[in-house]
Amino acid sequence: MKKALVVANWKSNKTELEARNWLSAMSSLKDQDLSNKEIIVCPSFIHLSAMKTFIAEQKLPIKLGAQDISPFDEGSYTGEVNGKQIKEFAEFAIIGHSERRKNFFEKDEILFKKAELARQYGLIPIFCMQNKTAKVPKNIEIVAYDPTFAIGTGNPDTPENADDVAAYFKANFQVSGVLYGGSVTAANVNSFTQKPNIDGILVGKASLDAQEFYKLIKNA
Ligand code: PGA
Repeated sequence: MKKALVVANWKSNKTELEARNWLSAMSSLKDQDLSNKEIIVCPSFIHLSAMKTFIAEQKLPIKLGAQDISPFDEGSYTGEVNGKQIKEFAEFAIIGHSERRKNFFEKDEILFKKAELARQYGLIPIFCMQNKTAKVPKNIEIVAYDPTFAIGTGNPDTPENADDVAAYFKANFQVSGVLYGGSVTAANVNSFTQKPNIDGILVGKASLDAQEFYKLIKNA
């Protein structure tokens, strides 16, 4: 059985206390059969350190990812968080989410640099693409298909179409894993994860509430 990646993208949400409470509410994950699932949470940068400590102390079956990465190495880049810094706390980095492309005007050139630096520092990029025409950098293992019409709208793509797009990415690029993102909930998650070409999901809104996300993991 394939191991489904269940990735929570908290976006710009949660205070430190809220993040801690969320993790506390996940302690019963230890009783779930997670042999075929991998749970990855991507909080704001400021929470990575405390969450890493809490996860280790509580022995929670959760890995951490960043929501972004600087396109530059360490140095004089005010406000940026670079790959070397992220690698101290996280194993994954989301790159090219449509909210970054739209609100911060990030283009392929910058995104490819981010992917390269992530890999250089041993982070696994989760490279987001909104449609089949998006360009994929070389040596990317995991991509996420998250069409803009489905993000935060309650209107997910159909599992059939998402599976077709996933098959397309696998056939045309050297990717081994394709995630689907866009209005995934505890109720619909299984319709995506049971598709042959979909290897996991990227979850925004439904990951914020611990109870909902716990259910979603169970159903994935
Ligand atoms: P959503 O976000 O689950 O809130 O639709 C998904 C995403 O941003 O990829």
